Amino acid sequence: WWGHVGPAPKDPILGVTESYLADPSDGKVNVGVGAYRDDNGQPVVLECVRMAEQRIAGIEYMEYLPMAGMKRFNGLAIKLAYGDDSPVIKERRVAAVQALSGTGACRLMADLQHRFRPESQVFFPVPTWSNHLNIWRDANVMVKSFRYYNPKTKGLDFEGMMEDVKNAPNGSFFVLHACAHNPTGVDPSTEEWKEVSSLFKEKNHFVVFDMAYQGFASGDTSKDRQAIRIFLEDGHQVACAQSFAKNMGLYGQRIGCLSIVCHSEMEAANVQSQVQQIARPMYSNPPLHGAHLVATILSDPGLKELWLKEVKMMADRIKLMRSLLREHLEGIGSQINWEHITKQIGMFCFSGLTPAQVDELTKNYHIYMTRNGRISMAGVTTKNVEYLAHAIHTVTKA
Ligand code: LMR
Repeated sequence: WWGHVGPAPKDPILGVTESYLADPSDGKVNVGVGAYRDDNGQPVVLECVRMAEQRIAGIEYMEYLPMAGMKRFNGLAIKLAYGDDSPVIKERRVAAVQALSGTGACRLMADLQHRFRPESQVFFPVPTWSNHLNIWRDANVMVKSFRYYNPKTKGLDFEGMMEDVKNAPNGSFFVLHACAHNPTGVDPSTEEWKEVSSLFKEKNHFVVFDMAYQGFASGDTSKDRQAIRIFLEDGHQVACAQSFAKNMGLYGQRIGCLSIVCHSEMEAANVQSQVQQIARPMYSNPPLHGAHLVATILSDPGLKELWLKEVKMMADRIKLMRSLLREHLEGIGSQINWEHITKQIGMFCFSGLTPAQVDELTKNYHIYMTRNGRISMAGVTTKNVEYLAHAIHTVTKA
């Protein structure tokens, strides 16, 4: 039956973790997957999550959730994404469905797009998170791209982006990273977001915000929703794919939310019913535990305050690692300009390393990262930063 099936190509991100785990070397370093580590390189369970676990222990029921997931969780999640006082929430114009983290939220969105806008295309920044392309391709949506990153400046190609947005057919779908762009760590400024939003309005494009890193760009979850706020103020209807993997450290719980701002309460109810209908044959209804944890934290002022502190602590540690990595590279005499390490934001540094240099780092130094040169700064620690800098210097010096 399956003799004709060849092996699938390795995933460009999770495949790096597989190779890292298979390496028996003691000094190996994983700066591949975007998963937070403490300064000892260990995964972290946030204190607020541990406390929420204790609160729900023994009282958590095990019933099926509805197809759209836990209503209380969805309500709290959209407040976090759009703001507590957001008019679109007050007007009950937001369709919201609990999703299997950010990936699941994107997949529900892609399927909805395909089902109700079958002729539409979707545009992604170059580069983007590799799985975006898989998700929309598997949902049979035509995938296109727009300029975003300028390798020369290691910053935003604002003109290129605006030109491509302008040239896309009116009423196209665009996936934008709400904050802490993955993989480049390059976001538009507030002023640039405003210009993007007004051009999108002119073009009548629909934006799907992928917000997997709320809190990781600035250390402040409210600041990190500025792009969404700007778009809403301009009267856009947007969608948002939220993930609690990174900002609550709930990676394996697969907890996220897809929300879609609609024209009216009735339209939102219709859209929500369709999205849950898409979920039903895929996985019926989402898992409980993560929704319980997030809802417990976001609904309790004390736990929420602790969570916000912990998000900031994670973001601050990453910032410190950026400074240290740059300092070490400059300190050992690298002639390359490493300013972008500290200029870029969020979990990743788009280093500028070539695939050949990344291969050399892996082969000679047991340092694992994606071949596009993305370094997950969350995997850098005070213990490995010097080793990493030395290895990078060796493979990049002329
Ligand atoms: C990443 O980009 O490393 C994360 O979003 C993990 C993943 O699923 O790819």
